[in-house]
Formats: sequence, C-alpha cells, structure tokens
Amino acid sequence: MCGIVGYVGDESAKEIIISGLKSLEYRGYDSAGIALNKDGKLLLRKESGVIGNLEKRIKKNDFDGNIGIGHTRWATHGAPIRENAHPHLSCDGRIAIVHNGIIENYMELKSWLIKNHNVEFKSETDSEVIAQLICVYYNGDLVDAVRKAVERMRGAYAIGAISADDEDRIVAVRKDAPLIAGIGKGCNYLASDIPALLKYTRDIYLIENGEIVVVSRGDIKIFDEDMTRVKREKMHVTWDAAAAEKGGYEHFMKKEIYEQPEAVNKTLEGRINAKGEVKLDGIKLTKKELDSISRIYIVACGTAYHAGMQGKELIENFARIPTETDLASEFRYRDPIIDENTLFICVSQSGETSDTIEAMREAKRRGARILSICNVVGSSITRESDDVLYTWAGPEIAVASTKAYTTQLVCFFLLALYMGKTRNTLPRKEYDRIVDELKKLPAKMSDVLGADDHVARLASKFAVREQIFYIGRGSDVGTAYEASLKLKEISYINSFAIAAGELKHGTIALINRGTLFVVLATQDRLYEKMLSNIEEIKARHAYVVGVAKKGNNRIRRISDDTIMIPECSDEVAPILAVVPMQLFAYHIAKLRKRDIDKPRNLAKSVTVE
Ligand code: M6R
Repeated sequence: MCGIVGYVGDESAKEIIISGLKSLEYRGYDSAGIALNKDGKLLLRKESGVIGNLEKRIKKNDFDGNIGIGHTRWATHGAPIRENAHPHLSCDGRIAIVHNGIIENYMELKSWLIKNHNVEFKSETDSEVIAQLICVYYNGDLVDAVRKAVERMRGAYAIGAISADDEDRIVAVRKDAPLIAGIGKGCNYLASDIPALLKYTRDIYLIENGEIVVVSRGDIKIFDEDMTRVKREKMHVTWDAAAAEKGGYEHFMKKEIYEQPEAVNKTLEGRINAKGEVKLDGIKLTKKELDSISRIYIVACGTAYHAGMQGKELIENFARIPTETDLASEFRYRDPIIDENTLFICVSQSGETSDTIEAMREAKRRGARILSICNVVGSSITRESDDVLYTWAGPEIAVASTKAYTTQLVCFFLLALYMGKTRNTLPRKEYDRIVDELKKLPAKMSDVLGADDHVARLASKFAVREQIFYIGRGSDVGTAYEASLKLKEISYINSFAIAAGELKHGTIALINRGTLFVVLATQDRLYEKMLSNIEEIKARHAYVVGVAKKGNNRIRRISDDTIMIPECSDEVAPILAVVPMQLFAYHIAKLRKRDIDKPRNLAKSVTVE
C-alpha cells in the first residue's frame, strides 16, 4: 500500500512532504520520491529503500519549491528500484503524477501510447501510463487532462498530478483508493491518509469515489464526475497520531481483519478477465511444463503453512498433481525426493522467513522449479523464485497474520484453477462455478464481518478459559489449525486443533465437563460426520460453539452457541470461516488485555532459525 502527500503554500514543500511521508511509514514502503514545481520547471528526486535515503539525497542537492507531490511506494508492478519509484514524469517532463492503486488495463494503454504517440517509458510500472496519458490530453488545462485520462483507466486509483505550467494547483482524483485534502492557513494539503497531515492540520475533506479535487494555496475545490462543484462538510480529526495510523481502529490486527474484503478483491483484480479466464502475471509455467510436473511440495511456516494445507487440497482437486504440504523447518533437514519434475511452492507473507528461504534453496539445489506466493515485492524469496504470485494484501503490521492468510488462500485458488484449466483436469462447468464463487467473496466477507458483535459477545463468555479445542474435517482442519494459532499467539490461551476424526484416538480423554470446543462444520459433504462429532463430545459434557453455513440449522439445535457464515461452496468456505475465528481470538485477547499487535516473544518476520 502506497502513500501520497501533496502541499501547496509558502513554506518549503519538500520538508512538509518528507515529514508527511514519514508518518505513513506504517503502510510499508520500498521507495519514495518527490516532485516540486520551481519557477515553471518540475524537479524530481527518488530513491529506493527507506525515506532516509531520499532525505539524504535531497540534502545533497539544491532542491526546493512551494508546491509538490510525494509518494512512498509498496511495489506492485515492477521491482522496488529507483526507476519504478513515484512521482512519474511525462516524456516532456511537464507533468508529474503520484498514484496509489492498480491500473488494470495499463498494458493496453501503454501499447496505445507507444503506437500512437511514440511515448518512451522509463519504468516498469502501471502508474507511468497515467503521466503519459495526462500529457497526451493536456492542452493547458490540467483538470480537463486528468479527467480525460481517468476516463480511459480501469482499476483502483488515487492520483495526484502537478504541471510545470501551474505553480498553484495540485489536481487529484480517486476511485477505490483513499484520498483526503487538508485545510491549512494560506496553504493546503493532499494525502492518502490522515496521519500524513496531523502535524499540520486536523481539518480535512474526505474525497469520495469519482471526485476530482483541485488543491490551491487559497482554496480546495471538489467536483463530481460531471464537473459539478460539490459542497463538502469539513471534518475535524480528533484522533491522536497512533490512532490515526490505525484508521480509527484500536489495533492494526482489527484494521487488517476489516481490510480483508478489499485485500481479497485486490488479489483477484485483473487476474480473472471478463471471460472468466485466469491470467497470472508472474507465472510463466507453460502447458508442457505443467504436464511434466510429477510432484508438488508446498512449504511454509505458521499461518502460511496453514494456507498451504488448503492449497494442497485445491491443487490435488483441480489439477490432479500429487501435492505434499510441509513445514519449512522440517523440510530443510529432511531428504526430500526432488527432481527436475518437482514444483516447489513456498508461501510467505514477508518473503524473508529464514526456514522458508533455506528450504527453498535446498529444493533449488536439487533441481526443483520454485514458485512463490508472497506479499512483499522484491523480498528474498521472490528474488530467488522462478515464478511469483503476489498476494495484494498491502502491508500487514500486526504480528498475527490475517489478511495475508486469506489472500494466500485466494492465490492458491487462482493457481489451482490455472493449473486445472491448462492441464484439462478441471471441467469447464466446475471451473466457471469456482470463478463465480471467488467473485462473490469480497461481498460475503463483508457480510461475515457483520457478525463481529455476536462474536465479541461469545468471546466475553470464554475469555477466562485456559484451554480451547478446535476441530473440523476436510478443509475445516486447516481453518481449525489457523484459528487455534491465532488464539494462542495473541491471547496466550492454550489451544489445540485436531482433525475431528482423530479425537477418539486419544484427545477425547481430555474432555471434562464444560471443556470448550469450537467445531467447524462448513463442509456440506462432511456435515453429518461433524454433527456426530458434536454428539460425541456433548455426551461427555463439553461446551460446543458450532460454526456452519447459514441454512444448516441442525447444528443450532445440538450446539450451545453457533457462528453462521454466508452460504457458499465447500471450497471457498475456509476463506469465510476463518474471519470470525480471527475476530474471536482478537476479542478474547483484548478482554485479557494482551499486547495484540505485538504479542510477547514473537516477531513479525522470523529471519533467524
Ligand atoms: O512471513 P511469513 O509468512 O513467512 O511468516 C510465517 C510465520 O512466521 C507467520 O505466519 C506466523 O505464524 C504468524 N505470526 C501467524 O500469525
């Protein structure tokens, strides 16, 4: 997730922009840049890495002005290098833009610009097309050019643009990406997020989807899509800086749980075209190569391993290739059977987990092809992989992984569909049914979040427990493991996940009167079996919270409490069922007054063995 800051006034724009960008550090970034208009010329400075790198570079140079735009980039299209950092300039150097989001049809626009306007591109980004497109439509009126340019774009964006011809105007526009304008005294601001402006102003306008905003020294004008002036009430921000970073949520974990519909949407966006075909940008596997794969290992740690458990089922079901899921810390010291027909899939949010990296290197040494599912562009794992499928979850700050997990599941769906289709192992009807289910996911996830209050009430009943069991069958086993890990790591409650069929082989001995079981029963084909498991543990006086799809009402009659998820196919149920489990862990940890975002003894990225 990138950050945008803009300033126009009498002060030094670079100081204000750098300070604003630093306040957006929590969004994560891999490069940063600033463009200023000084005496009718656009000056540009960009650097990869931390903002300090940009600051040092600017200090060495004579670089200043009273109007400018800045950006921190979290790489999506193109590596995290200086060339790909924003702002991007048009070919003639007269327009500069910053952009958050993804332009889905950028390849099409790029070809058009090259063919019809001989545009030479300097970066690998989707964003550069915006600068070039605005330049093509520019005839002295920046607002008009921005409008015409966005009419041609598909995707999500918040864009800020300046022109060399105008030292008093930043023009910005948004669609499905956040944008605000800040009200100053004799100056005004633009930003993607409130924290960037808190040092300077607490009075802001929230810009709505489709609106264009013109920020000048003396005023801020907001227009709708038809260029009709919009009257907007100003909002006075009362949050402190820390609360503002969390977008008003009490913890990053809660914010990230709530970001899941958007993260899932972004991960799907641009990868399923209008005809329902899955197109995976970073995957170069051809049909011939896919047909030659005889075995797949999915290797990861923690939550990413749980995503791998679901991935195995999807790949085996859709693509019919034998697949094993393994813990990276075990795999690296085994003697796995690997040859050039082996595909090794590593899953990692950070791309920097030591065990996963070493397991990957071992597989590579033995001749496997490496495919990674990762959230961080340019991370170690992605650099050493043959194919990369990114989860577009945006930075995950809380140690407990939430949106990275659900987007990893989405990536496994996309990959398994692609493999199944290419290998002709998945009938078209089935393929279409799954694609349809995936498209409905963001809305259904929002629906699940509506159960937050109900889950919070349940959590308040159980926050004092010292032991909780999670059970399930089929895909619910992976969800049970993930639910249990979430609870353990942030609440410090001793929890345990087990395949329900295994209960009677030992664990059933632990049941006392009132022992709490969360029973995941979202798989229609295994529903009856799960009802039997509930009867079995209820007969031993356990307390049961049943989790099932709406409409499956028998579970309500035999459980003590229930959490219902929206109707959906068995395949996508894990993506929905895990959300109330994350909320359950969150509320329990909150009631136990735990340090939710930074639980004891844990690090976000485990870069040591
Ligand atoms: O960055 P990675 O996905 O490779 O990290 C793997 C695990 O360390 C991570 O998922 C960990 O289990 C989380 N804290 C779980 O919430």
